[in-house]
Parts: sequence; C-alpha cells; structure tokens
Amino acid sequence: MQGVAATSRAQFLAACRDVTVRYGSCEAAVIALDQVDIALLPGETVALWGPSGSGKTTLLHVLGGLVEPSDGVVVWEGSPLSTLDTSARARARARGIAYVFQGSNLLPAFSAYENVAFAAYVAGERSSVERHAVELLALVGLQGKADNLPAELSGGEAQRVAIARALAQRPRLLLCDEPTGHLDSDTSTRVLDMVDALQRRFGFTLVVATHDAEVASGLRRIVELRDGRIVGQLT
Ligand SMILES: Nc1ncnc2c1ncn2[C@@H]1O[C@H](COP(=O)(O)OP(=O)(O)O)[C@@H](O)[C@H]1O
Ligand SMILES: [Mg+2]
Repeated sequence: MQGVAATSRAQFLAACRDVTVRYGSCEAAVIALDQVDIALLPGETVALWGPSGSGKTTLLHVLGGLVEPSDGVVVWEGSPLSTLDTSARARARARGIAYVFQGSNLLPAFSAYENVAFAAYVAGERSSVERHAVELLALVGLQGKADNLPAELSGGEAQRVAIARALAQRPRLLLCDEPTGHLDSDTSTRVLDMVDALQRRFGFTLVVATHDAEVASGLRRIVELRDGRIVGQLT
C-alpha cells in the first residue's frame, strides 16, 4: 500500500490499484469492475472505450471518488482516497475533479452564465466569479448566449456550457461520460475538438468514456474495457 502511494506521488495524478466494484450483495451482486489497474499521468488524454455495461461509468465514478471500491485502492495525488477525511475528499472533488455528462445536466432555471458562475462559487471562488464565468463562456464561444436558459440552447451549445461549468472548478482531472452521446456527428466533432484545445491550453488530465470507436480514436491513449476488465491499451 505504501509503495502504491509513494509511486503515485512521484508520477500519477490518479490511479486505481486492483479495484473491484460490486453492486448489490451475495448472489445478486453485479461485478461492475474486476481488478482494474489504471494510472493517469498529469496532462494526459485517455479514452475509456467499451460497450454499454462494460464498466466505463463506474470507473469514472471510482476515479472521481463518487463510488468507493469494494476492493482495491484509489490514489489521488499520492494519497489513497480512503485515507482522506470527508472534508478533504470533498475539497479534492470540488477543486480537483470535474465532470461532463452525456446530457449537459445544466440547472434548468439558471442562465448559461449563472450555471458557470455557480460552479465557480461552489469551487470556492469569491471575488473573481463574474469575470471567470464570462471568460469561460467566451472560451467556449458562447459569450452571446450568456443570458439564455438551457432550454434556449442547442444540444451542442448546452454541452459547451457544461464544459465551461466544469472548467470553472479549475480541474486537474476532467472526467467526461459519453459527452457527445446526444449530439449529431458534426456537433460531436466540434465539441470534442473544443475539449481537446482546452486540454492543451489548461493541461488538465482528460478522461473520456465512450462506446464510440470514432470518438475513442481521436484520443491519444485508448483503454479498452469489457465486462469490467481492461482488455487492451493503445498508446
Ligand atoms: N447503481 C448500480 N446498481 C447495480 N448495478 C449497476 C449500477 N451501476 C451500474 N451497474 C451495473 O454495472 C455494470 C457496469 O455498468 P456501467 O459502469 O454503467 O457501464 P458502462 O458505463 O460501460 O455502460 C453493468 O452491468 C451495470 O448494469
Ligand atoms: Mg456509462
């Protein structure tokens, strides 16, 4: 265990060591992840690729500290997540790890600007919330839609707001779960190109879970999942 922590502190942003996740108990248990080992380097770009039910979402949730492994260890910046107390874990999540989901999951009664500003506020920002939110909306090309409600945005625009909202946390790890699953292929390409450009600009570690081979093939490292196991890697 200490060896894991020491290695991870030196090299990795986040890692899973021999992680198994079971949902339910006894005979009814589903093994969503089966002894998974994965380490994420700072600034790298990774696709988690596999069919529906292969464990992609569970692995993102484990890496993000939302689901605790049944067995194994998740390491975040050198410390096993299980050794952090609740508030330290919440801080790591609020400041270090951000999510983008398939549907944009924006707060429906809040404007695009308010969605982004609220995330910056929750992440602990105070004096620069307004400027930061305006800058982020401009970065995703939506300065003209700041006052629109989510219902007044296209799918691609809503997803760009969701990306701006995630970046408002200044994440070191951005976890995207089927981020283009609801988008047509042109819009999907544009959104992914934007995430890629933002990754190069800000240097966060990017993990994209996808069942789509075309989406996965655009990323520099591809980790293939089947039935909760890593069955292949392409770098
Ligand atoms: N909350 C849950 N309770 C029970 N089973 C779950 C739960 N979440 C996922 N599973 C099961 O775990 C397996 C992996 O699911 P998931 O991680 O969502 O895969 P993917 O994202 O690749 O579709 C599937 O068999 C799924 O049915
Ligand atoms: Mg999923």
